[in-house]
Amino acid sequence: MGFDWTPVNADTKFSVLVMACGVFDVLKLKKYKSKGQDGKGAVASLSNLYRIFTVPETPYSTLGKIDIEISQNLTGFLRQHIVASEMDLEKIEKDFSDPVIPEQPTFVSDYTHFLMENLVAQSVHTAAPGFVGHMTSALPSFILPLSRIMTALNQNLVKIETSKAFTPMERQVLGMLHHLVYRRDKDYYKKWMHDCDAALGAFCSGGTVSNITAIWAARNNLFPAADGFKGVAQEGIHRALRYYGFTDVAIIISRLGHYSFGKTADVLGIGRESIISIDTDRNNRIDLQKLQKTCRQLTARGVKILSLVGIAGTTETGNVDPLDTMADIAEEFDCHFHVDGAWGGPTLFSDSHKHLLNGIERADSVTIDAHKQLYVPMGAGMVLFRNPTSLSSIEHHAEYVLRKGSKDLGAHTLEGSRPGKAMLVHSALSIIGRRGYELLIDQGIEKARKFAALIEADESFELITRPELNLLTYRYVPVAIQHALAKATHSESATINKILDKITKRIQKLQRAAGKTFVSRTRLNPHRYDEQMITVFRVVLANPLTTDNIMHEILLEQKAIAAANKKINNHLSKLLQKLAA
Ligand SMILES: Cc1ncc(COP(=O)(O)O)c(C=O)c1O
Repeated sequence: MGFDWTPVNADTKFSVLVMACGVFDVLKLKKYKSKGQDGKGAVASLSNLYRIFTVPETPYSTLGKIDIEISQNLTGFLRQHIVASEMDLEKIEKDFSDPVIPEQPTFVSDYTHFLMENLVAQSVHTAAPGFVGHMTSALPSFILPLSRIMTALNQNLVKIETSKAFTPMERQVLGMLHHLVYRRDKDYYKKWMHDCDAALGAFCSGGTVSNITAIWAARNNLFPAADGFKGVAQEGIHRALRYYGFTDVAIIISRLGHYSFGKTADVLGIGRESIISIDTDRNNRIDLQKLQKTCRQLTARGVKILSLVGIAGTTETGNVDPLDTMADIAEEFDCHFHVDGAWGGPTLFSDSHKHLLNGIERADSVTIDAHKQLYVPMGAGMVLFRNPTSLSSIEHHAEYVLRKGSKDLGAHTLEGSRPGKAMLVHSALSIIGRRGYELLIDQGIEKARKFAALIEADESFELITRPELNLLTYRYVPVAIQHALAKATHSESATINKILDKITKRIQKLQRAAGKTFVSRTRLNPHRYDEQMITVFRVVLANPLTTDNIMHEILLEQKAIAAANKKINNHLSKLLQKLAA
C-alpha cells in the first residue's frame, strides 16, 4: 500500500494539506466524511506524508483559522466553542468507542471538525470565571504561544543530550522555588544549583509524583547501605526493616491528607495501611496532641516514622497545618518532615499571608504544583529538598544516558522522558514576577473571605469551613432547618443531614449541568456535627477573573435551582413535616 495524502479539492475553503480516512465511517459522522480531489477518500502516499512534517497549515485551512482564533482571542474561542450545558457521558463515550486504528489517513480539516464538534464542544470550561469548583483555572494568554515554542523544540529533559539549555533552565526553576521556600543566600545557589552531584529538587508531572518522590527519597535515606546491607533501594523494605530492627514504617498525615500518599505507600511497597491518619482540630488542622500521642505509641511498638507530612493547603478545605510545631515533632522523633504545599505553597509569594506557612522552611522536602497556583498548564509539579544531596538516595544511572558525573536530570526523577514544562514555569515566574503572584494570592484569599461573608449574610446557606486560604465549603440549608439543626440531638441531626446531603448533591449536579457556574462537592466530617459525614459545596477562588458579582450569581442560581426543583422541594417539605411532628 502506498501513502497518498491528496490535497484538498479546489472548492473546499479549508485545508491545503489534508488527509482523508475512514475514521468518520466508523464513527458514523457522515457529515464530515472525507473527499479527495477525485471525490473519494484519499489514500496514503509517502510524498504527502513528508508534507505533513514540512508544510504548515495555511491561515485559510480549518486548523489555521482555529489557530488564529485561539491566538487572537482565547477567551472568546473557549466561550464560543465549548457547549455550556452538559451532555451525558455515555453519549460522549459513543464518539470515542471504536478500538480500531483508522486504516486510511484523515483530512486535517475533517479531523479538526471532528475535534471541534466532539471534543472541544464537550470539554469542561475550566477557565470560565464562574468555574470555581476545582483547582484548575484560567491560564495567562502568553502561555499559549510560549507552549508552541516548547512543543516545537520538543526537548527531552531526561538527558542533557536532548535538552541542552533546558536542563540548566529547569535547575534554575527548581532553585527559584527552593529559594522561595528555604531562602538560602546567593553563595548557596551558586554552589548547588548546577552541581552534577546535587539536586535542589525534582521537576515532576504534578503533586502526586512530587509526593511520591519526596517519600521515596525519605525511605532510601532512612535505610541506606551499611555493613552487610546494600540499602533499601537494592534489597527492598522487608530486609531493610530486618536489618535496621523495626517492626514496620509509618507515614503520618492528617485525615485531610491527599490520596496521593495512599498511592505513595502502595508503590513504595510499604502498604496503604502504613498511612496513619490523624484527626483534625476545629480548624481542620492536624490535632497536635493526637499526633504526638500516635508518634509515641508507634515508636513504642517498634514502628519507625518514615515521614511526618504537614499540609499547606488541604485539598478540600484549604487549611494549613501548624508546620513549625510539626517540624519540632519531626525532630523529636528523628523523622523526615515533608510538607505537601501542592496547593498552598505559592502563598509564600504573599508578604501578608506567608506567615501562615511558618515552619515550611524546616521541612526536609516540599511539594509545590506549578499547574495549580503558578498558572501553568497541566503536567507541572515540583518537589524541593532542604538538603541538596537528599535525592542522591534515589539516583539511577544507565550506560547510554544518566552516566555518573553527567548533569542529566533523569538521574533524579521518577519519570524518564519528560517535556520542557519548566520553561513555562520560568516564563510565568519571570512575566508575572513575585509581586504579580502576591497580588493573585492576596486577591484569591480576599475573594474567598467575601464569598464566605455572602454565604453568612444569606440565611439559606450554612458556611461549613471558613477560608484560611482561598477555599471554602458550605451548603444550602433553609433557615427553618438551620434552627432545627441547632437544637437537634445527634441522631436527629444525622437524619436531617442525610436529607441535606441529597439536596446538596442534587443542586450541585443541576448547576453543573446548566453550565453557567460550577462549584464542586465533597464530604467532610465537621466537629459541629460530631464528625458526622456531610456533603458540602466546595469553592476554590483562584481565577483572577471571578468577580464579586459572579460569586453572588452562584448563590442566586443555587437558590433558584432549589426553589424550582420538585425533588428538592419534596425532600424539604418532608423534612419540615418531620421536624414539626
Ligand atoms: C494538597 C494536594 N496534594 C497533592 C495533590 C496531587 O496533585 P496532582 O493532581 O497534580 O497530582 C493535590 C491535588 O489536588 C493536592 O491538592
